[in-house]
Amino acid sequence: MSDKRTLGHGIIGAGWMGHVHARATGRLTHHYPDLPVRTSLVVVADTLPSHLDAFVDQHGPLDTTQDWRAVIEDPRVDVVSVTAPNAVHGEIGEAVARAGKHLWIEKPVGLNAADCARVATAVREAGVQAAVGFNYRNFPPVEHAQQLIRSGAIGTPTHATVRTLADYAADPAGTLSWRYTVAQGGHGILADLGSHGFDLIRMLLGEIDELVADTATFIDKRPIAKAGASHFATADLNDPDVEFGPVENEDYICALLRMSNGARVTYEAGRSSIGDQCNYGFHIHGTEGALSWDFRRSDELSLSVDGPFQGRPTQIALGEPGVGEYQRFQPGAGVAIGYDDSKVIELARLLQSVEAGAPVGATIEDALKAALANEAVLASVASGHWEPVG
Ligand SMILES: NC(=O)c1ccc[n+]([C@@H]2O[C@H](COP(=O)([O-])OP(=O)(O)OC[C@H]3O[C@@H](n4cnc5c(N)ncnc54)[C@H](O)[C@@H]3O)[C@@H](O)[C@H]2O)c1
Repeated sequence: MSDKRTLGHGIIGAGWMGHVHARATGRLTHHYPDLPVRTSLVVVADTLPSHLDAFVDQHGPLDTTQDWRAVIEDPRVDVVSVTAPNAVHGEIGEAVARAGKHLWIEKPVGLNAADCARVATAVREAGVQAAVGFNYRNFPPVEHAQQLIRSGAIGTPTHATVRTLADYAADPAGTLSWRYTVAQGGHGILADLGSHGFDLIRMLLGEIDELVADTATFIDKRPIAKAGASHFATADLNDPDVEFGPVENEDYICALLRMSNGARVTYEAGRSSIGDQCNYGFHIHGTEGALSWDFRRSDELSLSVDGPFQGRPTQIALGEPGVGEYQRFQPGAGVAIGYDDSKVIELARLLQSVEAGAPVGATIEDALKAALANEAVLASVASGHWEPVG
């Protein structure tokens, strides 16, 4: 008989991320058998009954509700995942924390920095733990890169290129989902991948002092989506009955960053970049070396360290036990861990935070820093000048 403590897990938003969070709860003890605490799914909320039915089919048995407040008020629930669209993160995230429940909330935590600050304040005041969905941090080579930079393996960081380029919005037939409206999605690519990008930049290189940026919207209208359509849904552009609505936020951003440690960063994020499927990664140079990582080859860290390196080919370090959380998933080197694994790590870190009473992993304060960087991008576009971050 297990003597683990079981925390009730409620999920608000039964879409793509809701399913990923549910799978993480199901897999947690496979990979973290030594954690004295685990989660058990008890209730899921969604405004669409069809999404609830599909969710129960895959993850049940569990209770369902169309009212997110019922999840927070459920006495069996100790941990709440907020995996609904960005527009409701602020209100729901705050309510979760004020109810004294631990929070697992997806990026970007609201429509803007004010929404995120509202949740952060509630988390601080309630003294609960809050994990944010910055899962790219959790890949073992990314943690390896952070350790190498901190240990001075590349000397003093001088300059970097960072990118989060995707093509999910490259098709003009892709429907106008919540992501393209200011009311539901907030910022465009900034909210979606900019938040991840700025989090990676801060994790690896520290705080951002100031930035100058530009944005663009390449596809300015889209077919109106049917209720509940996923962001992969498309319409027939030859159908005369198809109605169009305006895309209200940016498809693309590019920014130059000056870091507090003096390093310079070029950052690019796009959602309509044909040919770039999940082209997320970084290339960081220092006075004594360099390293780079590409999510599409998530197990590999390219290294130019242990000089003399000039003129020497880059070496590839594969994932192996001892690198980040790698050994939680695979016993020997070279078996790449995947996207869902990075979310299992995220949940484990939330529960480690609950055990320790102190944050482990990406927190609501990290989400706020990323949101402030997003705001600085928009301030720079408006002013045409360098803008401070934070
Ligand atoms: N960490 C990551 O890599 C990552 C990846 C994708 C999405 N996300 C984030 O996850 C969140 C959800 O994105 P998604 O792709 O799963 O979207 P989605 O559209 O697939 O799912 C959202 C779900 O929320 C439901 N919903 C809408 N309003 C609701 C409400 N008031 N109460 C309860 N349910 C409601 C919808 O019906 C839908 O089922 C977003 O904030 C997004 O930024 C994070």
